[in-house]
Amino acid sequence: MKNYLIIGASDGIGLSLAQMLKSENHITGTYFSKDPAVLPNGIDYLHFDILNGDLQVDHLPEKIDGLVYCPGAIDLKPVSRISQDEVLEDLKLQVVGAFATVQKVLPLLKKSEQASIVFISTVAVQKGFSFHSKVAMSKGALEGLTHALSAELAPTIRVNCVAPSLTNTSLAGRLLNTPEKVEAHGKTHPLGRVGEPEDIAEAIAFLLSDASSWVTGQVIHVDGGKSTIN
Ligand SMILES: NC(=O)c1ccc[n+]([C@@H]2O[C@H](COP(=O)([O-])OP(=O)(O)OC[C@H]3O[C@@H](n4cnc5c(N)ncnc54)[C@H](OP(=O)(O)O)[C@@H]3O)[C@@H](O)[C@H]2O)c1
Repeated sequence: MKNYLIIGASDGIGLSLAQMLKSENHITGTYFSKDPAVLPNGIDYLHFDILNGDLQVDHLPEKIDGLVYCPGAIDLKPVSRISQDEVLEDLKLQVVGAFATVQKVLPLLKKSEQASIVFISTVAVQKGFSFHSKVAMSKGALEGLTHALSAELAPTIRVNCVAPSLTNTSLAGRLLNTPEKVEAHGKTHPLGRVGEPEDIAEAIAFLLSDASSWVTGQVIHVDGGKSTIN
């Protein structure tokens, strides 16, 4: 049984991952805005706001075998309508928060014989899309952090990133809130549909597991072919 910490395990990809792993592992998951009463059983939940709080390390197991950082944002706007403060806030949520969490949890990860860190990027780093400058900047920095940390923390801690395209979660709600939008966005992907949280969670579960013990420093594109196929 491994100990996994999932930051943002109360919705979307993080929740799907926690549900997938909980029968065979100990999962500590964090929630931010959800009512704790609606959270599923079998996961040890802690409240955590990366923008205004400190992760309570005393509530974590002594050793952590895997860390996944899920908080993110999709706020699409033309460049002329984005303030520098908004850029800084986005960086704080999507990448400084990931960095700070790794710093905080590193002593616990170092107690594992083979630990794994997984970040979540976006297809919008590999491929340019209009109105995506804010998210592309933040996630591009996260991919840089993946490469740097994978070098620094080898050979005992592996660091990888999964880069999804549009995935059917609350975060993407405004883009996918009618069947017509789901179908139209699906058609823009070579595999003919948008992602489901489980599609991304499966890739993260692989990167956490010993099945990927020779994989580090990678950005794995789980995107229905969107990043590379016309
Ligand atoms: N969905 C997509 O189309 C898509 C595409 C590409 C990349 N991604 C990336 O995938 C990752 C997961 O996205 P998702 O779609 O699963 O999102 P989601 O369904 O909105 O889930 C986000 C999770 O992060 C938590 N969270 C939000 N703000 C937080 C904060 N300030 N402090 C701590 N935790 C916070 C949420 O907690 P509460 O629910 O309790 O508020 C929730 O558990 C993100 O990094 C996103 O950028 C998503």
